[in-house]
Amino acid sequence: MADKNRRAFMGKILAGTAGVAAVASLYAMKRTWDPLPSVVSAGFTTIDLSPLEAGKLSIVKWQGKPVFLLKLTPDIALDVNRDIVIGENRYTVVIGLCTHLGCIPEWREGEKIFHCACHGGQYDAHAKQTFGPPPRPLDIPPFAIQGTSIVLGEEGPEYKKMTAQAKA
Ligand code: FES
Repeated sequence: MADKNRRAFMGKILAGTAGVAAVASLYAMKRTWDPLPSVVSAGFTTIDLSPLEAGKLSIVKWQGKPVFLLKLTPDIALDVNRDIVIGENRYTVVIGLCTHLGCIPEWREGEKIFHCACHGGQYDAHAKQTFGPPPRPLDIPPFAIQGTSIVLGEEGPEYKKMTAQAKA
């Protein structure tokens, strides 16, 4: 009898622990994926970049894809073909799907690289491929700058200039 009670008690403890872990991981996922106030309308997603902390990656969802938003730290040299410049700040804004076979790379803040665990591909802080099988940098989504915000999905002058430079 005592054994039965002990088993039931242990079962409740385990179920409770699993429940807490599941809620915690859902909360962590939600924070990672939707950390910034964003407005979605007519296929455009407007995101205010001013709350971003330098060196920390944020991820938003745009058209079902993860978009990486990274405010660059001052020690990272300017890349005129890749950096989005708003006032004093520079940002890497890219679609977070590896250009090899589409895995989602992770940002390694200490090394300042994006690392793709699938086949060991690496990208620098501007999301340009530096190692492994990725054939090209992470893709830059169409964007327009509006004050301290970017509008994903709209081809603004800065985006057109960037794509023209990439083709040249
Ligand atoms: S999918 Fe990223 S290196 Fe292969």
